[in-house]
Parts: sequence; C-alpha cells; structure tokens
Amino acid sequence: MAENGQPTGVYSASKDFIANAHVNAEQYAAMYAASVADPDAFWGAQGKRIDWIKDYSTVKNTSFDYGNVSIKWYEDGTLNVSANCIDRHMISRANQTAIIWEPDSPAAPAQHITYAQLLENTCRMANVLKAQGVEKGDRVVIYLPMIPEAAYAMLACARIGAIHSIVFAGFSPDALANRINDSEAKIVITADFAPRGGKKTALKSNTDQALLHCDDRVKCLVVKHTGDQTHWSAERDVDVKAEMAAARPYCPYVEMNAEDPLFILYTSGSTGKPKGVVHTSGGYLVYAAMTQQMTFDYQDGDVFWCTADVGWVTGHSYIIYGPLANGATTIMFEGVPTYPDAGRFWEVCAKHKVNQFYTAPTAIRSLMGMGPEWVDKHDLSSLRVLGSVGEPINPEAWNWYNTHVGKGKCPIVDTFWQTETGGHLITPLPGAIPQKPGSATKPFFGVKPVVLDPATATVQEATEADGVLCIADSWPGQMRTLWGDHARFEEAYFAQYRGYYFTGDGCRRDADGYYWITGRVDDVINVSGHRMGTAEVESALVAHPKVAESAVVGYPHDIKGQGIYAYVTLMNGVEPTDALRKELENWVRSEIGPIAKPDLIQWAPGLPKTRSGKIMRRILRKIAENDYGSLGDTSTLADPSVVDELINNRMNRG
Ligand code: PRX
Repeated sequence: MAENGQPTGVYSASKDFIANAHVNAEQYAAMYAASVADPDAFWGAQGKRIDWIKDYSTVKNTSFDYGNVSIKWYEDGTLNVSANCIDRHMISRANQTAIIWEPDSPAAPAQHITYAQLLENTCRMANVLKAQGVEKGDRVVIYLPMIPEAAYAMLACARIGAIHSIVFAGFSPDALANRINDSEAKIVITADFAPRGGKKTALKSNTDQALLHCDDRVKCLVVKHTGDQTHWSAERDVDVKAEMAAARPYCPYVEMNAEDPLFILYTSGSTGKPKGVVHTSGGYLVYAAMTQQMTFDYQDGDVFWCTADVGWVTGHSYIIYGPLANGATTIMFEGVPTYPDAGRFWEVCAKHKVNQFYTAPTAIRSLMGMGPEWVDKHDLSSLRVLGSVGEPINPEAWNWYNTHVGKGKCPIVDTFWQTETGGHLITPLPGAIPQKPGSATKPFFGVKPVVLDPATATVQEATEADGVLCIADSWPGQMRTLWGDHARFEEAYFAQYRGYYFTGDGCRRDADGYYWITGRVDDVINVSGHRMGTAEVESALVAHPKVAESAVVGYPHDIKGQGIYAYVTLMNGVEPTDALRKELENWVRSEIGPIAKPDLIQWAPGLPKTRSGKIMRRILRKIAENDYGSLGDTSTLADPSVVDELINNRMNRG
C-alpha cells in the first residue's frame, strides 16, 4: 500500500510484516555499513550459515586490477555443496518436502520429494555417473526439461565434484554441441522428450544431432520421461532411470575446496561465442543461501516458488542451491504460465499454498493482457512476497502485480543481478526497503555499486547520477573466470573501467539513493528475460546461403521487453519474399533456438557504414525504435542515402 494511504509512489510493507521480517530498516542500515566497512568480518560470520568440512581461516582475497584479476573467497575451506543442500538437513527435515514437482499437465499428480528421498535419488544418480567414469573435475552437460532428475543431476555432480553445465532445453542441437565441445564434457544427460504447454520437444533427437559434432567418447544418459520412442544407440546411450533403480542408494560426498568449480553456465556477451561463466563452491553457496533467505524473507516452513528454468542462473540459485541450502520447500514447475489457461500460475500458487512467488516481468505483462479474472478466481491468500527478475519492470506491470496478485499486501522485490553475479546485487529487502515501482532500490550486503560517467570513466559522487553501473568490490557470489579463457574474462568485465566490475548496464541513481536499471549499454539484448548477443543472431543469419550480411538490434516490445529486429542484405540476385522471411526465421530457430527467432526482418539493400566499414548500430537502433527523427550525425557514413531507404522501408511503425 502507499505510505499513509497517499499515492506517493513509494510502497512499504505492513507493520506486522516488518515486525516479523529477518531484516528491518535499521538492521539493514547497520548491517550494510558493516558489510562494506569490514568485508572479512561480515562474510567471515555469514560463511557459517553453511557447513564446512574444514573451516576457512581466510575470508576475502580479491583483486579487480586489470591484468591481475583474481577472486577467491574462503580459499582454504573445504565443503561439499550437495551435503549442504541435503545431508545436513537429514536430522531435522528428513520427512519435510524439499521439492514439489508440478508437471506440465495439471491433470498429472504433483510429486512431493522429501529431503530423505532427495538424498537417495541424488546418491543413485551420483553412482550412475561414477559408473560411467565421471570423476572430480569432469564436466557434465545437463539438457533436461524441468523434472526432478534435473535437480538430482545437479546435486549428484556437486556430490562427486563434477562440474555441471546446464543447457536450456529450448536451445538447438548446434548450441548444445558448442557447449559440449567448449567445456569438453564427458557426458550429456538428456530426456526423451520435454513436454511444455502441451507440446513436446524432442530432446533426445536434438542430442543425437548435437553429438554428431562431438567427440565419439561422449556418453548420453537418457531419462525416459514421456516414454515415447527414440532412436537408441546401444554403445552410447544409457537408460538413467533403470540404472538409478539398480544403483546403490547411498554415495559418499567428496571434499571440495571452496574455490573448486561448481558449475559452468554459458551466457551471451556482446561479441563472439557465448561465455562459459564459472561459479565455484563456497562463496557461491553462501551468497545464494543468504540472498534467498533475506531478499524473499524466507521463513522456516514457507513454500517458495521461482518460476525460472534451471537452464538459467535464476533456476540454479533460486530453485536449487539457495532454497535447498536453507532447508526450504522449493517448487519446480515443468509447464508454462498459459497452459492449459492463463490461470495456471495462480492455480499452482493456491494448490501448494505458495508464500514467495518469483517471476519475470515478461510473464506478468503477458498475463496482464488476459485480464484479472484469471487471477481473481484463485485463492492467493498464502502469498507474502512477490519477486521480479530479468529486466526492468514497467510501473504498469508492477501495479498490476501488486494489485491483482499481491492484493496490495505483498512487498515486491525487483531483483537486479546477472548470470555473472551468482545472486542478487541490487534489490529491496521486503521488511527494510520501501519500494518504488521500476527501481531495484538498494544494494545487497557487501555490494558497492558505483555510477560512472561513460565518457570520462569517472565515478559520479553526487547522489543523483546517471551513467553506467559498475561494482567497486567483490562479493562471494561473483563469477571467478570464463571457462578456459581468463583473459577474455578480464577483457569483458574489468578492462573498460579500471578497478571496477562492469555490469554492462546503464543506471540512474535518484535523490534517495535508489538505483534504476535502464538496460544494457552493450550489444546484448533482453528478450522475454532471455539474454542474447546480437552477434549470435547475426552469425546465424549470415550462415544462411542466401544472406550476404546482417545487423541485429533490439527494439521496445510490449510483452517481451525487447524484440529482435534484423536487417538483412541478401546475396546478389536473391528475391526478397515473405516466404524467404519465414525461412530465415525458421533458420535462426534451428541454429540457436526458438527464443532467438527475429520478430521483424527488414530487407536492407545496404547497411549504414562508416568509411572504414564499421556498421553504425546507433542508427539502426533508432530506426528499429521508430525514432528516426533524432539520428544524430550521419555525415561520417560512406553512403548516407542508405539511411533514407531504411527509414522508408522500416518494419516497426508502431
Ligand atoms: O540487463 C540486466 C537484466 O538482465 C541482465 C542479466 O541477464 P542474465 O545474466 O540472463 O540474468 C538474468 C537473471 C538474473 C542484466 O545485465 N536484468 C536482470 N534483472 C534485472 C535486469 N534489469 C533490470 N531490472 C532487473 N531487476
């Protein structure tokens, strides 16, 4: 509700909520000050929220110095992440539900998996991996639907010290093959089919195609999930469920160093191929657990639902590692928000009495368009905190979320973070920080945001500031390197603004010190909360035999946040037809995956280039945004007339 009932645009939790919250405003202020004044003391104490095999004697050892970037936390401590997420809860929570699995079809029963069952299934999976020769440090690619086996596989890897790399089940065979090859994985774990929204994706067949481009020794573990027929290679394919049933139900966990990698997760950058973000064990787990508890005010016994897919970092930190480290009950949902109807999210919230609900603005915007009646018919009285992630949430969607889902009584935490950051960087704590719709508000403990002037690379000291967002010091959940390419890691994040971690985002800080993320300032776009490099889509397009050149930019899209706008120059003599447009859309779908399909393709006989041949993306972005009145200086173009041609034939006239 608005403060004092006035529409001030600032929303606070109720007195009751604040009284029972983990952190209130005074505590936040004191803890935040302590966290940045003495990180060793602060994180030394917070490290105790997880169990260590050998305790650490040092806490923070980090440097953001370009050329010497090195990030280590708790570096002489040892632990096992799987033991922290499962075994340590066995004394008090063996029969508590760890995971509620909600299948794609509401007609199928949900599964309630207790911590004891999670232990047994994880151990069985770990023994299957061991039997296939997986050892500590080996990479395992997971290409699964949102099914319990995905959780078992992640935790089994962590248990035996293997490094998992999850590939979102919506990615194409090519994208899968690239990730298997880049990480030199020994094994890929997949399923026969992935049901979603009543349709099925042929994961096994995608994997078969991917493996044609991989080392012959890569094994394929298949979860027979739907039971539909698939091609089977006797030497290479393994029936996971059958092997798990026959495996020993216990597997000891291995002692891992705090800085041993836990997982690799590929994400898009502004240039080149996707980057293999590496997260390690100790600091990541401390940070995921702490943020899950504090940001959502998670209390013992609550039911927590993060609607993300485990193929993205949000699923790693807030479906699996954070909640399970805290002994929570976490929901894993196989389906989509609109199947069988637009009330599915709310039906699931009512059915499982969800207390914290965490989703993306794009889902809210699409459900908003279907009308409030889909929400109103379900009992949402269990909800206490709502979360948003992945892109800026526009005030209209915020208000709808607040009014119709939260009924004006649930704080909304707009969490700003990235694959690279492991957990929330800037977010309200619901009992401590009043919210302003559209602002991610204030930094989490230990996080020191700075706003830099992009032209001069200087820090803006004034409270009110506009510029690029950097972080001045390390936090435990930060990525450590890019898989196999530390130089690229330094180049991508530490070269541009020396001494700082550069997020790639623009940002404004208001007079109250609130942060407002304004979106990426590089060639990364955010489509329905999915991050994509424009360069990836361009290289998919130019791989088509009829395409000579292409330039891809983002443009504002009502539901998706950003849409993909592709300018395409065809090979000489190729006729631009609607059929070809369709063909190119399908081509990109199959090269990368459905999330990368261009929304608009404009035929571009020429692209605006400087005399040195560099494409002027600034101009292409403006035309795609239908804002061609303010193109700026075009005099340096080799041929300024191409701009008029592009404007006249622009696709987005909305
Ligand atoms: O641009 C920011 C946007 O998503 C980017 C990170 O994408 P990814 O690594 O895929 O991780 C998404 C989930 C953590 C950021 O650089 N972003 C994420 N959360 C927000 C956001 N933009 C504005 N507000 C947010 N809450």
